[in-house]
Amino acid sequence: MTRIAVLKEQAPGENRVSATPETVKKLIALGAQVAVEAGAGAAAAIADADYAAAGATLGSRKDVVAKAEILLGVQGPEAASIKGCAKGAWLVAALDPFGQPARINGYAAAEIEALAMEFMPRITRAQSMDILSSQSNLAGYKAVIDASATYGRAFPMMMTAAGTISAARVFVMGVGVAGLQAIATARRLGAQVSATDVRSATREQIESLGAKAIFVDQVAGIEGEGAGGYATEMSDAYKAAQADLVSSHIAKQDIVITTALIPGRPAPRLISDAQIASMKPGSVIFDLAVAQGGNVEGAVADQIVERHGVKIMGYTNTPARLAADASALFARNLYNFLSAFWDKEAGRPVLPDDDEITTAIRLTQNGAVVHPRLTANG
Ligand code: NAI
Repeated sequence: MTRIAVLKEQAPGENRVSATPETVKKLIALGAQVAVEAGAGAAAAIADADYAAAGATLGSRKDVVAKAEILLGVQGPEAASIKGCAKGAWLVAALDPFGQPARINGYAAAEIEALAMEFMPRITRAQSMDILSSQSNLAGYKAVIDASATYGRAFPMMMTAAGTISAARVFVMGVGVAGLQAIATARRLGAQVSATDVRSATREQIESLGAKAIFVDQVAGIEGEGAGGYATEMSDAYKAAQADLVSSHIAKQDIVITTALIPGRPAPRLISDAQIASMKPGSVIFDLAVAQGGNVEGAVADQIVERHGVKIMGYTNTPARLAADASALFARNLYNFLSAFWDKEAGRPVLPDDDEITTAIRLTQNGAVVHPRLTANG
């Protein structure tokens, strides 16, 4: 029987867990044995007893890792902390391949097959395995909720006997998975919402959510959509036109949520200090890209900074602030991945070498780093 270990997260502030009692039950139903590190679910409101009731055994890191063939995590563990697992064991987690090269080399040296779930390709078949989507969706929601809690005013328009309060104006910059959820959440709270992106396909999505689309129209030949549906780096002419447009719009906003990312590059700078200075005192900016360098000048991860009377906030790990739901979805992503490749005869999942998913996510195998984006010839 394949032994699966569920690791307790070690990173500060990482409250999520990579398996829930629901997915433990399903993994056992596939024919696996599941061992959960004691306390792994505590920060996500899952007790050890709930894992035990689902059929898992509980133990120390050393116990659960011993002879494990599949290790599940949210973030990648130190290679030294998973010594004792089976040779060629799979490590399935968000491994931060560009940020943690030494750790990835450590997995290779330990003959672990490291599978980076954030490299999951954006193809229909893999949608249910896509941790970036499941976590970004919750992050977009939480950004609006956190910004609204910091904002010293209400979101909806209210007509009261004492007079009328006007609706908050919310501007969402970057309309991917997180941005769409931010728009929907701000609308539900009663705000007047506008949004912008470099990908023209988002215009219709913004409008269908009842928000106003703010787009750069005057620069010819713009199509910000690159490989895999992601954004590309824009031309200098475009950036200048975007800055002008944003400058005139942002001064009228109460809340700005920025989510813009370009794969493999630092987050694009969308809001300058001068633009912050043009906003009304008491406004709030939430920078969801702060961990990738930030969209907003002066944003500091995990701090609320005040500049020109405007509060700028952003967290390194927003999904971990909704740990129970984020874990439930993350755990299902991992289960969907393992079950899709489950080979009944082998009694474990098997990744075909020529599968698009395999080549996208496999970082290390047989003692070497094998991913083209990480090797010298990549
Ligand atoms: P992301 O997290 O990489 O970026 C967030 C947003 O920022 C994107 O919409 C991007 O266009 C925008 N952006 C980048 N630079 C900008 C700039 N300078 N100014 C304004 N906006 C800027 O994106 P995410 O959320 O990962 O989604 C990317 C695409 O992938 C979307 O089209 C999404 O619908 C698609 N997708 C497809 C999936 C599938 O087919 N399995 C699953 C999930 C997403």
